[in-house]
Formats: sequence, structure tokens, C-alpha cells
Amino acid sequence: MPRYVTTPIFYVNAAPHLGHAYTVIASDVLARHWRQRGEDVFFLTGTDEHGEPVALAAEKLGVTPQALADQNAERFRTLGPRLGASEDFFIRTSDPRHVKRVQEVLELVKANGYVEKGTYEGWYCPRCADFKTESEIAEGNRCPIHKIELLREEEDNWFFKLSAFQERLEQLFADRPDFVMPPRSANEAKAFIERGLHDVSLSRSKLSWGVPVPWDTEQVVYVWWDALLNYVTALAFAEEDNDQTSTYWPATFHVIGKDILKFHAIYWPALLMAAGLEVPEHVLVHGFLLMKDSSGEETKMSKSLGNVLDPFEIIDRYGSDALRFYLLREVSFGQDGAVSVDGFVTRYESELANDFGNLASRSISMVHRYRDGLVAEGTIDPAIAAVIDPLAAQVAEQIDAGAPSQALETIWAGVRRLNQYVEEQTPWALAKDPEKAADLDRVLATLVDGVRVLAVLLHPFLPVSTATLLGTLSRDGAVDLAYEGTAMTGAFGFPIKTLEPLFPKAI
Ligand code: MSP
Repeated sequence: MPRYVTTPIFYVNAAPHLGHAYTVIASDVLARHWRQRGEDVFFLTGTDEHGEPVALAAEKLGVTPQALADQNAERFRTLGPRLGASEDFFIRTSDPRHVKRVQEVLELVKANGYVEKGTYEGWYCPRCADFKTESEIAEGNRCPIHKIELLREEEDNWFFKLSAFQERLEQLFADRPDFVMPPRSANEAKAFIERGLHDVSLSRSKLSWGVPVPWDTEQVVYVWWDALLNYVTALAFAEEDNDQTSTYWPATFHVIGKDILKFHAIYWPALLMAAGLEVPEHVLVHGFLLMKDSSGEETKMSKSLGNVLDPFEIIDRYGSDALRFYLLREVSFGQDGAVSVDGFVTRYESELANDFGNLASRSISMVHRYRDGLVAEGTIDPAIAAVIDPLAAQVAEQIDAGAPSQALETIWAGVRRLNQYVEEQTPWALAKDPEKAADLDRVLATLVDGVRVLAVLLHPFLPVSTATLLGTLSRDGAVDLAYEGTAMTGAFGFPIKTLEPLFPKAI
């Protein structure tokens, strides 16, 4: 079954930070896992280059919006590879092929009768590029997300008739309780719909940095429509001369942060319905990474709030696997969670280096110490296989349900069980007694095979270190990631290589 997973596309008004990295990492875990199961996966990320946030930032810097976009898009383009992410395409909304498709879809929406002229008067946050409804305004007329004062806007715009989709959206949420996940986010979206939908601007007359409205080139398309449409336009041109829309649309998961729920859960399906396109299968919502500010209070980490933990510093010192692991383990996916350098170091040392890295190292080094590197064929402890073998199905179920942190916890229970097995079996004592040779063979094979299965399951989370580990444990150095290999078989009987520490202490 083809699967299509997307990240939000990032504003190019600032450099990538940990919040962006988080979204990319979570999406990549889904994509990598499904590929291991042999699914045909397309994974998209990219940059959101039009609109006020970028125009304003460029003005401040005294450069053109395109120049700022070109410079920052490059930094986002390298974000994926630095995080160990495996995206299939990186879309930029200033790409003329995207611009053309946006215009075509909006012509369709207009032809279907969902566009009309109107005047917008109300409150607007230039950093969210969002026209706020009454229920979305924080005290002191401020943006609840950016805390800045909202602007009073009045302008003649083209409008999208969102109100015409009141019933169809109510129906969508009633028919598909998992359209938005987790349920808390679905309920939030439903409550917004139940308060009654109003028409929304489709275009802006006061801006020039954007996609020209095809029937009125004095105006540009409101940046959110342009941005949302990236998810469908990209499929048409990601590969030259091969429109992949019919293969991958509708998307399996749009992974997003909770601040952009309204756009994805309400505006987006309505626009798709208006254009006669299918709505996505799921919108998967994650929480915020929080940091303690100077007063000790936990706040959303963001560039504009100036409290950023730099993902690149962590990657340079500890590698991308360590960052991926920390974020998905520390912050339960779907909830907000505080992150810190201290918290990172603790998990790195106690869980990655000790629990998993050390389990792998000591298992492999005992095989070398006691058996010259040869793992005996065939004999596996059934009690351990009974714990490890069912993990794959549970992990698959959790990933399909959009719960990567839970999947990681499932695998970690297996890691803990194998560590306990070492302590129970004391292979170093067995090695001293020649009569226990068969027991030692069985324990070592069980450990090595168990570690191998855990490495296959952990691969989406730790792509670099698990590849090294699986190469060490295979007959010919090949890295077999296939999900079929997630049962313990004891199919050894060949020598394995030695392993350098996977998660060394940082200098
Ligand atoms: N350009 C829009 C998205 C358009 S999608 C059609 C946008 N861009 S953004 O760069 O501001 O944010 C991108 C994503 O990063 C959002 O999902 C947002 O929730 C996420 N994060 C930004 N800061 C974050 C944290 N501190 N924590 C977790 N994720 C956060 O919005």
C-alpha cells in the first residue's frame, strides 16, 4: 500500500531550530519504518517562502524576499540530511512549477463557486500569517502563540467560502474519528467548527510577495493556501516526467505541530473538497518542545522568544541518532514536553550508551572473548524469543497509529529484558565451566540474535548506529533492515565482527 508522509513546510524567515528538527525526525521515523515493511513510501518536506513572515523579515534585513528565501531554504534543505532524515523530495513554494499548480487549483475552486469578493476587517497576526477569530485572541489583544499585539486589518480581498463546508466538515469528523490524531486535537478542531465557520481571505491585496491570483494579478494568494497546496503540487513534479499524484494522494499522515491545527484540520480539507480532491487520511499532531526561561517558567521554544537549544551543536558532538532518540523518548509524541541539555546528557548516557550501546558491545565482545567471534547456530532461549518476537507486531501497530514514542518504549522494554537476561545467565560464570559450554553457546546466540532484532526495530529511530550494528552481526557485512527479520531465528553459525562503542562518551 503506498504511504505518503509530509512535514509542515518551514518558513524561511529564520534558521532551522529544534522544533523544526522534531517534526522532521518524527515524520522520518514513520517513513523509515514503513519502508522496512516493504511499503512504497513517499516522504516530503520543504520550505514555505511567500507571505508576510518572509516579506517582513527580508525588509528588516534590507534584502529581497527571494534572496532571503534562497539563503534560508538552503539551510532547511540540509536540515534533513543532517538529521539522518530520508526525504524523497524537498519542495520550495517559490518553485514556478508549484506556483502554476496553485493557480490551477484555485481556478478550479473558483469555477466550482467557492470564491467571492469581500472585505476583511479583523485581527491579524503577521507572524502566524493568521486572521484570528474572537476565540483565538489572547488577553490584551495578543497572539496566543507569539504574544505580540495583533494588528487591525481592513482590506478588499477574494474570499474562500469556508462557511459552505460547515456540514461537510462536521460529517468528516463524525465519520472519521481518527482523521485528526490524537483525539484531543480532533476535539479542538471539532469545537472550532461547532462555533460556526466564517469565510476566510483567499488573497491579500496589501502584499506583493506571493503567488499572483490568476484572475486578479493585483492580489497575491493568502500564504496559507499556497503553503497547504504544497502537499499535492509536489507530487506532480518531484520526479521529472512522472506525475505521482495518483499513486500517493491522499496523504497518509500530515505531521504537524499543534499551533497549525486549524489550517490543516479545517481549512485544508475544505479547500480540497472545494477543488474536488480527496482529503488526507490523517493529520497527526504533536506538541511543543518547551524550554525553561530565565524565570524558570516553561515556554515554547522558538527563535522569536530567544530560548533555543541548537540541534546542530548536539549533532556535531553526539551524532544525529542521539538527537532523534532524545526527542522522541523525552517528549511523549502528542504532548508538550520540556527539553534541556542536562536531560539530553542523562538519557544519552543512561539509555543509549548504557542500556543499548553497552548491551550490544558486551554481547559481541563476549562472543569474541569466549568463542573467537563465532556465534553458535540454532539454540535460542525460548523464554527470550517469547518476549522479543511479539515486539514487531506491537511496534507496527503503534507506528500505524501515529505513536512513535510509544513504539520506542515497546522496543525499550525488549532492551531492558535482554539486559536482565545477561545478569540472570552470567555468561562470564558459564565460561569458566567446560560442562556449561552448550549453555554459554545458547546464551550468547540468544543475546546476539536478540540485539539483532532490536536493531532492526530501532532502525527508524537510530538509522546510523543500527546500520553499523547490523553490519557487524551479518555474515557478509550486509545490512538487512527487512521487517521480516524481526523474529529470533538463531540462524548464525558464522563469525561476527568486532564493534566500536556505538555511543562513546563525548569529549
Ligand atoms: N510555514 C508554516 C507551515 C505550513 S505547512 C503547509 C509554519 N512554519 S514554521 O516554520 O513556523 O513551523 C513549522 C513546524 O515547526 C510547525 O509544525 C511548528 O509546530 C513546529 N515547531 C516550531 N516550534 C516548535 C516547538 N518549539 N516545538 C515543536 N514544534 C514546533 O508553521
